[in-house]
Amino acid sequence: MKVLITGAGGQLGHELCARLLQAGHAVIPLTRAEADFTCPERVRDAIAAAKADWVVNCAAYTAVDKAESDSATAFIVNRDAARAVAEAVAGYGGHLLHVSTDFIFDGTQSHPYREDDLANPLGVYAHSKWAGEQAVRELMPEALIVRTAWVHGAQGNNFVKTMLRLAAERDELRVVDDQIGSPSWTGDIADALIALIQQDAHGCFHFTNEGVASWYDFAVAIIAEARVLGFPIKAQRVTPIPTSGYPTPARRPAYSVLDKQKIRAALGRPIPHWREALVSMLRELQT
Ligand SMILES: NC(=O)c1ccc[n+]([C@@H]2O[C@H](COP(=O)([O-])OP(=O)(O)OC[C@H]3O[C@@H](n4cnc5c(N)ncnc54)[C@H](OP(=O)(O)O)[C@@H]3O)[C@@H](O)[C@H]2O)c1
Repeated sequence: MKVLITGAGGQLGHELCARLLQAGHAVIPLTRAEADFTCPERVRDAIAAAKADWVVNCAAYTAVDKAESDSATAFIVNRDAARAVAEAVAGYGGHLLHVSTDFIFDGTQSHPYREDDLANPLGVYAHSKWAGEQAVRELMPEALIVRTAWVHGAQGNNFVKTMLRLAAERDELRVVDDQIGSPSWTGDIADALIALIQQDAHGCFHFTNEGVASWYDFAVAIIAEARVLGFPIKAQRVTPIPTSGYPTPARRPAYSVLDKQKIRAALGRPIPHWREALVSMLRELQT
């Protein structure tokens, strides 16, 4: 199978390229240099020319706070270019997997969000991603859309790497404990996406690692596991703080746990817990 991956240099795109190659597929990695998503027509042309069996759209404007003051770019990349990807794939009759986010929900629910729960994005990034999903669905109702959350991987920047850096420099870390979600490792996300592709799945699915955590819980676990694995850790304390104690330009959902019943049934195998996945990620970082 020939699979084109956009955002191939990002956290998820990079991991997906590696695992698809390992599984024996032909991979076309598309990076910003080959197709800048701020120019949707070029993206459309590049994807139409490649005619891959599957296109996985991992490219996104993911700077959640920066998006608040750069709304135009966030919407061009996350909505207009996502539409251009769908136009191109629909044009030659290929399959599309579009990656989306837990942030399309407002976080006011107290039980996990199902695929058909009402979206109510809070910030610019969230609005632009929701608009991207809608554009993709409008053009390709049969497209596969997978929402994930709290992504971390050995490639790129993420919360795990930030905590490791700060824990090596400081005695104390102060971390928000009133935002709840499910940390998710790119290795497990990529495996789930590949399984869905191999099944020719379509429609919307939620995938995260199992279990829930606050950012504080996650930070405590990162430091504990990193210490066991021999990472340099100076921090003696992690202090929980409320979101109000760490103001950010973008509002974030307080609770964005995704319901996984649908994807559990599709995969037919257990999904690793976030803590187990964290250890896998840390081991990968070490090598
Ligand atoms: N990160 C999370 O916590 C999280 C949570 C839920 C859902 N998601 C979704 O998961 C998907 C993958 O995210 P990720 O964590 O892998 O993000 P990431 O590491 O930030 O990767 C995003 C990719 O998009 C590319 N990109 C950004 N602007 C571009 C442009 N103008 N033209 C071409 N490429 C551009 C980046 O290219 P460069 O490498 O050149 O910058 C990068 O390769 C996205 O759809 C995201 O919305 C992420």
